[in-house]
Amino acid sequence: MIKRILKKGLKLPILLFRRQKAKIQLSELKLHESVKVKAVGDTLYEVLFKIKDSEEQEACTLIERRRSFLLNSHKEVSVIDYGAGKPNSHRTKEEMKKGVLAKALVGDICKASKSEFWATILFKLIRKLQPLSCIELGSCVGISAAYQGFALNINGRGNLTTLEGSPEIANIAKETLGALNLNNTSVLVGPFHETLKIVLESSKPVDFFFNDGHHDHDAVIENFNTAMPYLSDEAIVVIDDISWSPGMRKAWNEIEDDKRVVASIDLGAVGIVLIGDGSARKDKFRMPL
Ligand SMILES: C[S@@+](CC[C@H](N)C(=O)[O-])C[C@H]1O[C@@H](n2cnc3c(N)ncnc32)[C@H](O)[C@@H]1O
Repeated sequence: MIKRILKKGLKLPILLFRRQKAKIQLSELKLHESVKVKAVGDTLYEVLFKIKDSEEQEACTLIERRRSFLLNSHKEVSVIDYGAGKPNSHRTKEEMKKGVLAKALVGDICKASKSEFWATILFKLIRKLQPLSCIELGSCVGISAAYQGFALNINGRGNLTTLEGSPEIANIAKETLGALNLNNTSVLVGPFHETLKIVLESSKPVDFFFNDGHHDHDAVIENFNTAMPYLSDEAIVVIDDISWSPGMRKAWNEIEDDKRVVASIDLGAVGIVLIGDGSARKDKFRMPL
């Protein structure tokens, strides 16, 4: 009990300390010889120092308004969860393939969306890296997709396809993206094992791949390997929740060490890897935020 209270009480100071420390560590990335690593450094710099121009600020305000609306919704929807559940759920491969049926309130479902801080990292990454073809695994109610879609909109080019297994949740994501007039985004409904190959085929070469769906070691590795042949020469892959479970950590460690990865940035909750032909020196950065 005391341990739990202490852990909760220390959460914020630890977070603030980490983010202060990261501000100092940033020069490693910002002064890097690779343009892409430098862009990640610039992204983190602008997020940590809360730098946004007026167009970016306006976009984020609109999305956060939509998030508040969804968080306050008591509407109940049916859910088919093809994911791993909770870190201690230990679902079998069969259960995940078939999907687990449940009912949930929209407000509760929305809590799985990336926080404003992490969603802004995605937004700024897209602003800096200017990808053309983007894929997201795990739309949920469309919050992170909206951040990515808005960044592409402000860039003036590029498209995002976001994949969601649960049809009623996908409908809410469609409403979110429609309400924000993000015509450069589309939602594809179905379990990843059925939809991923289709979308990779129609989106290749893929410049930006965000994996925020199935939080299971084997699924993450399988989706990463499936995506690899369709990625552009210098694509960016972002993996969410790499510290969510021992299995997710293991998946991240394997991805970091993959010979096709030329640089990796471990942000604690999220990992970013830069893809290359494997000939460049591998750089690993660790900066928990
Ligand atoms: C953490 S939420 C995504 C949050 C969203 N990216 C955001 O930040 O706004 C994960 C979503 O992935 C979906 N999902 C998980 N595993 C899946 C699978 N194997 N196939 C299809 N959808 C899946 C879940 O239904 C859930 O809505």
